[in-house]
Amino acid sequence: MRNLIDTLYDTSNLRDDQLLMLLDEIKSSEDLQYLFDRAVAKKKTHYKDAVYMRGLIEFTNYCKQNCNYCGIRNSNTTVDRYRLDKNAILSCCKEGYQLGYRTFVLQGGEDPYYTDARLVDIIRAIKSQHPDCAITLSIGERSKESYVALKEAGTDRYLLRHETASKALYESLHPNMSFENRRACLYTLRELNYQIGAGFMVGLPNQTNEDLVEDLRFLKSLSPEMIGIGPYIPHDETPLKGAQGGTVEKTLILLALTRLLVPEALLPSTTAMGTLDPNGREKALKAGANVVMPNLSPTDVREKYELYKDKICTGDEAAHCRQCIEGRIKKAGFSVDMGRGDHTKFKMDCTSNALFNVIA
Ligand code: SAM
Ligand code: FES
Repeated sequence: MRNLIDTLYDTSNLRDDQLLMLLDEIKSSEDLQYLFDRAVAKKKTHYKDAVYMRGLIEFTNYCKQNCNYCGIRNSNTTVDRYRLDKNAILSCCKEGYQLGYRTFVLQGGEDPYYTDARLVDIIRAIKSQHPDCAITLSIGERSKESYVALKEAGTDRYLLRHETASKALYESLHPNMSFENRRACLYTLRELNYQIGAGFMVGLPNQTNEDLVEDLRFLKSLSPEMIGIGPYIPHDETPLKGAQGGTVEKTLILLALTRLLVPEALLPSTTAMGTLDPNGREKALKAGANVVMPNLSPTDVREKYELYKDKICTGDEAAHCRQCIEGRIKKAGFSVDMGRGDHTKFKMDCTSNALFNVIA
């Protein structure tokens, strides 16, 4: 086991059968600790002790899609739907800015109300009030023209988890969505010079270790700047009600393997980890994660953005979240970085407010 981990550490790669062997056979707490320690060591070679903070704004829970695992899927009629208007989003950003955030992540369902024109107006306004901040969007699949318009308006990054790299599993979970189109969106975003984020859930019903190897292989070949990995947590008002869901331990293994395969990735320690385990987010940092996304959404809408059951932090003010997470990061032995936290491949040219990919 340790030989494989060492090879992965040294070469940032393994064959599929070796990855599968690790996933199938790593069990002892000593081997797990060894894997997590190597992942943290690798992270430190690129990012030292830094953990980057992003302010998350969940601005709409309307969604036209029907992902079978997701609590805000279109067919869930029990959801109290909301949208934040431009002023509400700007005041979240203002509060976030005062709390020190320099990245805002605007996330929502696929909500046709937010046309390109509306989003461009919002993004331009955020950029004009906070030119030193990065904007990340996470609003699902859109057309190339839309991605172009959002980039021109000032969006820096785009999160679009691939969800699972297994076509059969993807199709069983996403009625009326296309496996190929989701990937095509990621390639389009990359072509448009966004910092891109892919990622997947751990513990989906019928997901095998072979499927997870496909996820790791896909991430290795795409090499996205950001990789979101979290446990799947069932929601009662979805077709997957009663499913078992993912575990913290398995997710930690996948996080650590991802850190070693894609060493420079920005890897969030997700709220879903904190939901399954009070120390889940700290454990993720100690397995190679280096980003946290405290919530900046107004408290009166937090509970309505319920992707899975018992989501934590729904009652907390933004300032409280900021402090709580900072304490957790420090206690876990890391330091808080409130900067934009761009990927090492991207360099900010502050004078023109443009991002240049220094490698390409
Ligand atoms: N609509 C956008 C999209 O499709 O990328 C962003 C919002 S979506 C709710 C954000 C992520 O939440 C998804 O990519 C999915 O991986 C995750 N998610 C949804 N339901 C979940 C669940 N029940 N447990 C854990 N994660 C979930
Ligand atoms: Fe659209 Fe979950 S189904 S955000």
